[in-house]
Amino acid sequence: MSVILEGRDIRKSIGENDILNGISIQISTGDFISIVGASGSGKSSLMYILGLLDSPTSGEVIIDDKKVDFGDTKLLSKIRNKKIGFVFQFHYLITELTAYENILIPMLKNGVNDRERLKLRSYELIESLGLKGKEGRKPYQLSGGEQQRVAIARALANDPEIVMADEPTGNLDSKNSAMVMDVFLELNEKGRSILMITHEMYLAKETKKVLEIKDGLMAS
Ligand SMILES: Nc1ncnc2c1ncn2[C@@H]1O[C@H](COP(=O)(O)OP(=O)(O)OP(=O)(O)O)[C@@H](O)[C@H]1O
Ligand SMILES: [Mg+2]
Repeated sequence: MSVILEGRDIRKSIGENDILNGISIQISTGDFISIVGASGSGKSSLMYILGLLDSPTSGEVIIDDKKVDFGDTKLLSKIRNKKIGFVFQFHYLITELTAYENILIPMLKNGVNDRERLKLRSYELIESLGLKGKEGRKPYQLSGGEQQRVAIARALANDPEIVMADEPTGNLDSKNSAMVMDVFLELNEKGRSILMITHEMYLAKETKKVLEIKDGLMAS
């Protein structure tokens, strides 16, 4: 297993608040890591830094053996678009666009403009997430579970090596949570690395590694 992404002694302070107090973590190929911990312990803050959405106060993020330069915002978004797919508790789909169009966006951002390729990849994702026949619907015409599956399809559009999910089932009932979890397990079986924050121990138990964060530090 090779390390794809590594956080070294990540610290984050905002004003007087010490949010992360020196966390080190490695994400390797084939990993399925869940992060648990009390509300406010720093889980999302850590994920945003590892996902290059926010910068640490000190410490390093290393991707493919290269230290990330948090000052280079253009490069940050380029790495993000190529390497990492995000899924959040709230799906953040664009309400005016259909499921199909929402899935296209990351590919367009990544500079893919071959219409056939766009179409092929979108329909592949729609099919694999059980959304066939619903691709023309806008988010409000879909159930919460379906919306979240569209968001997962969007996260996978550029075939990222790592999927980072911040409480992806936080808004779903147990049936839809199980469905989303099955999607993640299947993705992981196919070789994708997954980092998932969850409050649900029964879901964390299904992953390969459970890390607990306590007061901005790794507790286990
Ligand atoms: N932009 C910010 N400015 C000030 N404080 C912040 C900011 N973002 C997060 N915090 C604080 O950092 C701490 C950790 O927040 P974080 O969102 O990482 O927790 P969490 O473990 O994800 O919690 P939850 O389970 O509730 O989502 C909290 O005390 C929070 O109030
Ligand atoms: Mg959080």
